[in-house]
Amino acid sequence: MRSWADPRRREWPEEPEKSEFASCRKLWQNPGVPETRIVQVTDDEMKQAVTEACALLRAGEIVALPTETVYGLAADAFNPEAVAKVFAAKERPSFDPLIVHIASRGDLKNVAIVPEEIAEAVAKLTAAFWPGPLTLILPKHPDVPDLVTSGLPTVAVRQSAHPVFRAINKELGRPIAAPSANRFGRISPTSASAVMKELDGRIPLIVDAGACGEGLESTIISIAAREGKKPIFHLHRPGPITREQLQDFGKVEKVREKAGDLPHAPGQLPSHYAPHTPLVLLENPGDFKPEPGKKYGLLSYRGEDDSPYVALHEWDQVESLSPGSGKLAEAAIRLFFAMRRLDEAGLDMIIAEPVSETGLGVAIMDRLRRAAGGTTSPRMVQ
Ligand code: TXA
Ligand code: MG
Repeated sequence: MRSWADPRRREWPEEPEKSEFASCRKLWQNPGVPETRIVQVTDDEMKQAVTEACALLRAGEIVALPTETVYGLAADAFNPEAVAKVFAAKERPSFDPLIVHIASRGDLKNVAIVPEEIAEAVAKLTAAFWPGPLTLILPKHPDVPDLVTSGLPTVAVRQSAHPVFRAINKELGRPIAAPSANRFGRISPTSASAVMKELDGRIPLIVDAGACGEGLESTIISIAAREGKKPIFHLHRPGPITREQLQDFGKVEKVREKAGDLPHAPGQLPSHYAPHTPLVLLENPGDFKPEPGKKYGLLSYRGEDDSPYVALHEWDQVESLSPGSGKLAEAAIRLFFAMRRLDEAGLDMIIAEPVSETGLGVAIMDRLRRAAGGTTSPRMVQ
């Protein structure tokens, strides 16, 4: 039998007839809201936003909130009807579980049961990386509704480092279930205006605290103990906490899917984070064969005129991830923003330049591959 820590373990809910699934089914169609309002947070004034967000969350409503990674669509994690509204607003399939956010490390015991054999690893990881962009998959506490975890015996947990999110999480006094605030399969939003484009008319409130500081969703791992050795961290999604950072605490292994396996994290489907415009990750500039009359945009890394990608074509639009300097942290922050700008430019195709696959570059390349729907050159570029 597979242990809870097996990254491929999934017991998918059948068409669920019992528990909170059934009572929430009536909410699966998103009824919409009369108006989506934005409340601004300034450097010295967040009280208004905290009060408004908490009032809605307490009333079982859903609210878009800033986190240090991307904007999240928040609901009271212990209120299944509120959680069902998240699935409806995002058009997210019920088999894709949500991340639960806690206000303090002490709250972990309310949402997860940490097995003895990995308790030390969890203590070390949370001391090093929380609050921050690391999500741990752990056995779930029975109080967490099945809807949050899509019927899985595990729950994904993190503590956000964003001051506004933290203030709301603390004031609410309950864990917050929050996926990224985009419609399913689309580009994650890193600003309030991007959330508006995704969810206008579907949610009552967006708390606007400016652009997100990391720009990519959290790193997700599960942990397996090893007798007399450091634990194994199964990497479900690369993110801002890099393999190099995790290696100080254990052995990092990428979760690989076998053909026929259910996805270990549905956000990790080959096509995800995708713009409407076809995107091709062009590993080799020589493979680019533009069709006459078509409009092409370039998602460039440095955007320098002498780059082999910029010089390749008379691009209709170029967006640079880290203009001139080529810093991966800057590229991560700008990635979804730049993808969105190109998507809105009326192009026939977006060509993306690869970045070096070290440190944060691993997470950036993961998102680029998924935006390309698993397609890299030269298959789409004839
Ligand atoms: O940075 C982030 O993680 C953002 C912010 C809002 O916290 N959230 C986010 O959530 O990216 P979402 O729902 O877009 O992605 C969460 C991923 C999904 O791919 C989901 O399948 C996976 O986490 N996940 C959640 N619970 C899981 C579990 N118990 N086992 C395996 N994967 C899980
Ligand atoms: Mg997402």
